[in-house]
Amino acid sequence: MKAGDAGPAAAVVVLAAGLGTRMRSDRAKVLHPVLGRPLVAWVLETAERIAAGRTVVVVGHQAEKVRAALAGRTVEFALQEPQLGTGHAVQQALPLLAGARGPVLVLCGDVPLLRVETLEALLDHHRDRRAAVTLLTARPADPAGYGRVVRSSGGAILKIVEHKDASADELGIGEVNAGIYVFDAAFLAEAVHTLEDRNAQKEYYLTDLVEVARVRGLGIAGLECPDPLEVQGVNSRVHLAAVQAVLRDRINTGHMEAGVTLLDPARTLIGPEVTLGRDVTLYPDTYLEGRTRVGRGCVVGPGTRIVDSVLEEEVEIRGFSVLTEAVVERGAAVGPFSHLRPGARIGPGARIGNFVEIKNASVGPGSKINHLSYVGDAEVGAEVNIGAGTITCNYDGVRKHKTVIGDRVFVGSDTQFVAPVRIGRGALIGAGSTITRDVPDDALALSRTDQENVAGGARRIFERLRRRKG
Ligand code: UD1
Ligand code: CA
Repeated sequence: MKAGDAGPAAAVVVLAAGLGTRMRSDRAKVLHPVLGRPLVAWVLETAERIAAGRTVVVVGHQAEKVRAALAGRTVEFALQEPQLGTGHAVQQALPLLAGARGPVLVLCGDVPLLRVETLEALLDHHRDRRAAVTLLTARPADPAGYGRVVRSSGGAILKIVEHKDASADELGIGEVNAGIYVFDAAFLAEAVHTLEDRNAQKEYYLTDLVEVARVRGLGIAGLECPDPLEVQGVNSRVHLAAVQAVLRDRINTGHMEAGVTLLDPARTLIGPEVTLGRDVTLYPDTYLEGRTRVGRGCVVGPGTRIVDSVLEEEVEIRGFSVLTEAVVERGAAVGPFSHLRPGARIGPGARIGNFVEIKNASVGPGSKINHLSYVGDAEVGAEVNIGAGTITCNYDGVRKHKTVIGDRVFVGSDTQFVAPVRIGRGALIGAGSTITRDVPDDALALSRTDQENVAGGARRIFERLRRRKG
């Protein structure tokens, strides 16, 4: 398809008021996320790239949630209540389009794969043909569920017949209506009020405007989208998965072309807002979500989920780790099996090992927390070594308290820091200590009872226990 010289559309209307019965969900269909972004927001992303006078989103089911999902975008909303069909939905948008002249592009909130080039080609085609209505059509492998495009023997488009209203002959038609149209604004504004609901679903069908145009002898044009997948509408969870696979592939291909290695692209999910530097390597079953940024040369996974986090350059996140709102600075290594929660900041070259949980805590350059620890609400200095099983007791049941550990502190295994507490630089904490008071710089802190060895004590106890057992 040619693209590029399409002038601005007078307006874009996005239909997003339906419930989506076939999803069998309590959530409005257009709010179902695909790679973390609601369906309708994918459509808006594309719509925003079409030069348009204004963009109107028709909302109805869970209208407030749909509005919230589109907060921050320059769109206006029209409320459709109750939802009486796609034609009725466009009627509700008309007051916001008053006075518009030229082409109006109508999109469906459940068709997320459409490319902007296709829409530009549709607008071009509409202008070239000087049509009153131009439809995007396709020939999917399975046309079931779609409206069929009925043409005359000469190839002129006569009407669209919905699947539920179609005769056996019409069901045999392979060309379907994609649900994407360009209308002349004046024709739309007037003709949409003539629609009737005499059909299987008792709805006002936008598609009936094609027949209205024909009866009036106005121009009707159709443009076939060569890739039927692109116009796949999401009506079920099966469609949702199919669409996600396509968007995943588009995103992953883009990253690979930009110099990222994906060991198994089909098993790697990268959200649309994630950025990846050159020579990043992602192992399978890695999920990068939200506004995550991954710097050059990082290695991540397998089986790792990273949400709204920043990895600076040359960071390694080993398998089965989970990071949320965390920052990992240059050259640090995390995992396997680490959990970095909001506010975790891991300094350059630091090491966080298996079964370590970090929350709202900074760990200084070169420090190591390698095994089985919880560090929360803490500041850990540079070159600190924290032994296995160290716990910051940050919560007294009412409030959170802070632990501050100075540079070069060495913490023996199985230590508890009862916060608030401060450990001075260069201090040494004996293994098994419960630290309840501040420790000065360079001091040794020990808080454990002396060991007692009872000669033969173990043998005597076991003999007694065995006698009792009989
Ligand atoms: C529609 C078309 C069909 C086409 C298919 C393409 C009609 C009558 N049929 O059918 O020809 O092949 O799309 O995917 O238009 N919506 C509202 N208000 C309503 C009803 C629907 O805003 O009252 C919105 C939905 O939220 C959805 C879109 O319109 O985003 C399409 O609605 P849907 O019910 O999925 O229509 P289809 O049956 O798929
Ligand atoms: Ca649909």
